[in-house]
Amino acid sequence: MKMQLHVVIFIGALAGLEAVLARHVVGRQAEIQCPAVPSPFPTWQQLPLQKSLPDPFLPLKFVSSDPVADVVAGKSKNRIKTKEEWYACRKPEILQMLQEYQFGYYPDHSKEKVEATRSGTTINIVVTADGKTGRFRCTITLPSGASPSKPAPVVINIGGMANQPYLSAGIAVAQFDYTSVSPDSNSKTGAFWDLYKGRDIGTLTAWAWGFHRALDGINMTVPEIDSKRVGVTGCSRLGKAALAAGLFDERITVTMPMSSGVQGLGPYRFHGLSGQGETLENSKSGAGWWSSSKLGGFVNHHENLPFDAHTVAVAIAPRALVMDQGTGDQFVDSKGTSIVTYPAVKAVYDWLGVGDQLGLSVRSGGHCDNSGYSSVLPFVQKIFFGTATTKDYTSTGNYGAPMASAFPWSTASPPK
Ligand SMILES: *[C@@H]1O[C@H](CO)[C@@H](O)[C@H](O)[C@H]1NC(C)=O
Repeated sequence: MKMQLHVVIFIGALAGLEAVLARHVVGRQAEIQCPAVPSPFPTWQQLPLQKSLPDPFLPLKFVSSDPVADVVAGKSKNRIKTKEEWYACRKPEILQMLQEYQFGYYPDHSKEKVEATRSGTTINIVVTADGKTGRFRCTITLPSGASPSKPAPVVINIGGMANQPYLSAGIAVAQFDYTSVSPDSNSKTGAFWDLYKGRDIGTLTAWAWGFHRALDGINMTVPEIDSKRVGVTGCSRLGKAALAAGLFDERITVTMPMSSGVQGLGPYRFHGLSGQGETLENSKSGAGWWSSSKLGGFVNHHENLPFDAHTVAVAIAPRALVMDQGTGDQFVDSKGTSIVTYPAVKAVYDWLGVGDQLGLSVRSGGHCDNSGYSSVLPFVQKIFFGTATTKDYTSTGNYGAPMASAFPWSTASPPK
């Protein structure tokens, strides 16, 4: 026994020495051991019921293995503890998890070839992959004074927006007909499906892909635009798409979902706070094509989802995100987004040290009012130009205090 113990200790010491050497050679990043992403992913039956927003700091592996009370309270021992772990392990896991359960898997862009030609204000975009071709167009409106030596940032939108305040602020506006990328229906036509028909991918992801290929085309043909300062926006279902566009492409500088609702920034949990009752269940039955078929497995079990709207948003960090909500919105849970989703996201942005990159813009008025675009503009100017603003983008307006019971893990945030 004694002998064996000595051997174990000796080997242990050697391994320790090796580790020290390795640390010196490869530096800090390589030391991070990420918990394995579960494969296959757990089904709803294998996941705990969570009536509050799931702890974003807990890797998925431990959601189904740690004590349920700890998971729900945000007190699991296995939570992410450092920013390095967040970016190396948890952010990639969230991206994979969201594709698995909700969006469907975003196509491998490295296998695509993008070509673009410009004719006046129109950009023709042609994408080929695996012998197939998808085509669509994007139009662009430049602010006065934009030139290759003084390129302007751009906001890409689908469905139309209030252009003039943006142009006046020196920001270009681009738009593409989202139905030519994918119609808002089950019919798999349009540029995206010409390439990827047969795949279990949601329309929100198809539209997100459209934003990204439009940006490729702009970058290739419009030297008057600075492709390193890019916003994406849309409202309602197109706001959900804008959120997906920000999620899936690190080139997007500022994500601007307007009145986005569930599958956007409206939480699945606490969906009744504004009384509209947009839920996972009715979004899945009314427009099931927005997400992949996997999400359908959680119908009537949305409290078993290991994520919620806040999880999508936090995977955009450290990049900027501004949330537009109207207090008179008749269709989406503006209150839920404002006092549940937003403060939960803020807890993570703050912890990552990028709280100033997150904004909430609660305004009066209804669903998709154009005033929303003016309301978020000073935030966008801050991101693009560093312009100071006195507008308070942390205010939940008349909705009152954040609903702390909805995100119990925030008070147990990992140490800075
Ligand atoms: C724009 O195109 C250049 C040249 O291909 C590439 O290096 C750069 O990453 C692109 N930028 C964006 C924002 O796509």
